[in-house]
Amino acid sequence: MPLDHFGRNIHYLRISLTDACNLRCVYCMPENMEFRSKAELMTSAEILRLTHIFASMGVDKIRLTGGEPTLHPDILPIISGIKSIPGVRSVSITTNGVLLEKMAHQLADAGLERANISLDTTDPTEFFQINRRDSYDKVWRGILAAEAAGLLPVKLNAVIVRGLNDKNIPNLAKLTLEHDWQIRFIEMMPFGGTTELQTHQVVTTQEAIHIIENQYGLLEILNNGAMDGEAVMYRIPGAPGKLGFISSVSKPFCAYCTRARLTADGRLRLCLLRENEVDLLSPMRDSAADEDLRKMIAEGIWGKPWGHGLAKGEVPLNRTMSEIGG
Ligand code: 5AD
Ligand code: SF4
Repeated sequence: MPLDHFGRNIHYLRISLTDACNLRCVYCMPENMEFRSKAELMTSAEILRLTHIFASMGVDKIRLTGGEPTLHPDILPIISGIKSIPGVRSVSITTNGVLLEKMAHQLADAGLERANISLDTTDPTEFFQINRRDSYDKVWRGILAAEAAGLLPVKLNAVIVRGLNDKNIPNLAKLTLEHDWQIRFIEMMPFGGTTELQTHQVVTTQEAIHIIENQYGLLEILNNGAMDGEAVMYRIPGAPGKLGFISSVSKPFCAYCTRARLTADGRLRLCLLRENEVDLLSPMRDSAADEDLRKMIAEGIWGKPWGHGLAKGEVPLNRTMSEIGG
C-alpha cells in the first residue's frame, strides 16, 4: 500500500472523469462555469493506464466522480475496464442522478457496484434554487432506477446551505422512514468559485441532528459511533433507512483519510481542500514509462498534507469542486 509520511494507507482513489456537469449546484460552481476542452482531459486510455499503475501500488477502491461522470461518453467501457484491473476490489460512482433513469441498468451490467446520488431537497422549487436546473423529477426517477438496478445500498447526499434547503432537513430525514436508504447530510465546504456562500451558511452536523430530533425524537447512534467511510451513522428508531452525517468542516476526519484524487485533467490531488497537486498527464503525454509515473505517484502520496485548514479560514482557490470530484 502507498503510505504517506503520517502512516496513512492511501488505497482509495477518486477519479474525476470530466469537469462538465448538467447541473450548476450553487455550492459547487458558478452559473456561468466554463468547462475544460476535451484536449485538456485524460482520454479513456490514459485513465485506464493510470488506474492500472495505482492498482499495482495497492489502490483497491475506485470511485468515479465529476463534474458529472455519467456525461462521459465512455463511462461504460471505463467501468468494465477498471473492474478487470487486478487488485481493484470495488468500483462505485458519485452522480447527480439526472441520467440514471436511462443508465442505471447499463452501469450495473458494466460492473458498477454502488452509486451515491445527490439529493439536496425533496422540494422541486428548492431543487431549482440550489441546483439551478429543473431536474428534480428526473433525479427522483434516477434514484428509483438505481435501486431497481441493484446499485445498493442507495446513498443520497444532501449538502445543506442555510437559507436554501435547511428547512427541508426533516423531509429528507423522513425518507428513511419510507425507504431502506441512507440519507447523508454533508456540511458545505467553502470553495473557489462558490465564495458567495458564507461560513455562516454552513449547517453543522450538530445543528442538523438537533433539527431532526426536534421532529422525530432522539436518534439512535449506530456502530457505536464508528465511522462508515466519512459518515457517522444514526437512525430514527424503527426506521428502515439510516442517517449519515459528514462533518467535514466541524469535525474533520483527516486522521483517517485513505484517499487520493485524480482530477479530470490528470493531476494527482492529495487533499480535496489543499492546493498541492502532481501533474501526471504532461509526463504521460511526454512518454513517461510506468515506472516513472509510479515514482511520481509514490512521492506525491508520501507528501500528502496532513489535513485542511478550513477552521483557520484557509480555503483552496485553485479549483472548483467540480474539477476535483467531491
Ligand atoms: N461542500 C460539500 N460537498 C460538496 N459537494 C459538492 N460541492 C460541495 C461543497 N462545496 C458534494 C456533492 C456531491 C459530491 C460530488 O460533492 O454533494 O455529493
Ligand atoms: Fe454538478 Fe455535482 Fe457540482 Fe452539482 S455538485 S454542479 S451535480 S458536479
